[in-house]
Amino acid sequence: MTTSPDTASPVADSRPISARLRAATAVAHERAESATFVDDLMSGRLDAGQYTSLAAQLYFVYRALEQVGDDLSDDPVAAAVLDDKLRRLPRLHADLVSLGIDPAGITPLPAVARYVEAIEATRDDAARYVAHHYTRYLGDLSGGQVVAHRMRQHYGLDDTALSFYAFDGIDKLKRYKDSYRDRLDALPLDDAAVERLVEEAISAFGHNQAMFGDLDHDRAA
Ligand code: HEM
Repeated sequence: MTTSPDTASPVADSRPISARLRAATAVAHERAESATFVDDLMSGRLDAGQYTSLAAQLYFVYRALEQVGDDLSDDPVAAAVLDDKLRRLPRLHADLVSLGIDPAGITPLPAVARYVEAIEATRDDAARYVAHHYTRYLGDLSGGQVVAHRMRQHYGLDDTALSFYAFDGIDKLKRYKDSYRDRLDALPLDDAAVERLVEEAISAFGHNQAMFGDLDHDRAA
């Protein structure tokens, strides 16, 4: 008797982790790109104040990401992706000050408070932490560059307000992203941990989507 591959009992997904992550989050990525807040922001229908609201909310996201990253710096899984050149919190702080905001006086929107909780809950599971790391930093290194360009173009923001998108010390973003994917593919994780990583990345995209929803709701209020 022959067994067709389609009907064979489930086997572990043999694709590299980076390919699995990209495939599993492709639909979520399209949704994030076309979220009303993102689409309006990118098309020039909002204003610098609304970009500032986004930067303020990202402040909480990166504070959690980078604090948990510091706590996990001795973990071989987290350490494989952690890199000081990616650190965004000091830049977001400086951008907010340049945009006229005191970071000590801002509060997270409800979706962002939940996002922060989710990041903090990965302190005991580095595989899931990597999912959050991937979702934000690889996004900043990709679409983030387009965002910075549009913010200059539509709202006249200058580099002092957009340092978040500048990665000093990373020469070629494409090469860096390729090496990041290589590091993902070499993570010492068993199948169950890879599964958790992929699921958490889908959930991380969901948190971003919810943040955009709250930002949209906030501006309509
Ligand atoms: C303004 C909206 C956005 C645009 C224009 C955009 C654009 C892009 C582009 C062109 C790439 C492909 C880069 C490459 O293959 O090297 C990319 C990749 C990526 N984006 Fe976005 N993006 C946007 C929003 C987002 C958001 C909101 C997130 C999540 C927070 C995100 C996360 C990612 C990730 C993780 C990747 C890497 C995919 C992979 O290769 O594994 N993006 N983005």
